[in-house]
Amino acid sequence: MDVDTAKLSVQDHQIDLPITVGTENEVGMDIRKLRGTTGAITMDPGFANTGSCESTITYIDGEKGVLRYRGYTIEDLAEHSSFLDVSYLLIHGELPTRPMLDDFHEEIAHHSLLHEDMKKFFEGYPASAPPMSVLSTIVSSLSAYYPSGNSEEEVNLNIVRLIAKLNTIAAFSYKKSIGQPYIYPRNELGYASDFLHMMFAVPSEEYELDPLIVRTLDMLLILHADHEQNCSTSTVRMVGSSGADLFSSISAGISALSGPLHGGANTAVIAMLEMIGQDGGNFQKYVDKAKDKSDPFRLMGFGHRVYKNFDPRARVIKRIADEVLGKLGIDDPLLDLAKQLERIALEDEYFASRGLYPNVDFYSGILYRAMGIPTNMFTVMFALGRLPGWIAQWMELKKDPATRIYRPRQIYMGHNQRDYVQIGSRQHLHQ
Ligand code: CMC
Repeated sequence: MDVDTAKLSVQDHQIDLPITVGTENEVGMDIRKLRGTTGAITMDPGFANTGSCESTITYIDGEKGVLRYRGYTIEDLAEHSSFLDVSYLLIHGELPTRPMLDDFHEEIAHHSLLHEDMKKFFEGYPASAPPMSVLSTIVSSLSAYYPSGNSEEEVNLNIVRLIAKLNTIAAFSYKKSIGQPYIYPRNELGYASDFLHMMFAVPSEEYELDPLIVRTLDMLLILHADHEQNCSTSTVRMVGSSGADLFSSISAGISALSGPLHGGANTAVIAMLEMIGQDGGNFQKYVDKAKDKSDPFRLMGFGHRVYKNFDPRARVIKRIADEVLGKLGIDDPLLDLAKQLERIALEDEYFASRGLYPNVDFYSGILYRAMGIPTNMFTVMFALGRLPGWIAQWMELKKDPATRIYRPRQIYMGHNQRDYVQIGSRQHLHQ
């Protein structure tokens, strides 16, 4: 690309905006001097055209359906790597050697116990507490138990603690919700195995791990591990930019992820498919509802801010859903419903012209169901997977000399200055 500046005139002001070109030839206009020079700001609600940072972690080409972590394709990583291998890659920048990966696993296993006092938190929640609220609150409380120092060593230790303990916190929140005793982590197990053991074992009998389920969970975690500047990651960066510690920043990210337009969509997809099934499988009715602008209904698990083509993660998940359900001998009617809904939506001009395809959340729930994971835990699974991405992005923010506190501007559209009205004379303000 041979352009190195863009020219902009705003009212009487001219400005040359330097161009930043990424390693994949993405082009960004640097507007850092815009307001100082012209007095104007940019307006970009939802930040669809706004780059908030330079990053070396994840690359997405939404038009071509490409996703890479540190240069490695998501398809290669899902097939050949493990979740801890990918976590190391995201956080440290390179794939670990065997001894490095073994050390990483050992460190994480060593920190997987929760402080015993923290069990009281779980006991204080009603059984019906949404697991994502529990997760975000308890992660935030980790700051009280493991205060953060700023040295690299202390930050690294808290990173290991967080990866280790999120597994345990997630499983404990489930045990609490069904009234079963907590099952403590076991250091000899891998990350996904340990989670499944803590979720499904009971003290009264042996629990046998199914290697197919372990591998499938590991793969799902890999597929969710990072997705550049999405809503929850930008939240983690935003909170981190104020100087808040790792646990507070990640806790905020968990809250952002819980929304139905973001990670909460995986739960909403199942509710939608069940509703369509109960309604006699009338797909066209729901496709029409999704197209109707006066109806708030949307096809959950469809559409993406960045992908205007098939989400590559959804492609992998759809393939493994067929394979895994077949091997486990599970015939889930929701898988058929999902496939039929996908077919009918993709044949429709509304979805085609807007580039609306199934996203990562469309088929993931069907796999979680096959593993016995209850619907209200699906978004927690997403959070477990996304954790290394959030951590890597938080660290990148901290190390980037260009980082400033996140503080967007606005265009004020409210009242101009007016006189204060005494309380007895305000009736007219509400007529
Ligand atoms: N069903 C029906 N119409 C849709 C949908 C949908 N799922 N998604 C987008 N549209 C329409 C939207 O109405 C708009 O139409 P028009 O141009 O006529 O106004 C157009 O497509 C563009 O949509 P948008 O809302 O401007 O797009 P966005 O980038 O702001 O939102 C999204 C992206 C993911 C929030 C949205 O597609 C959506 O609500 N999808 C359903 C929820 C979902 O599956 N979320 C998970 C996202 S992937 C994983 C993650 O990030 O957690």
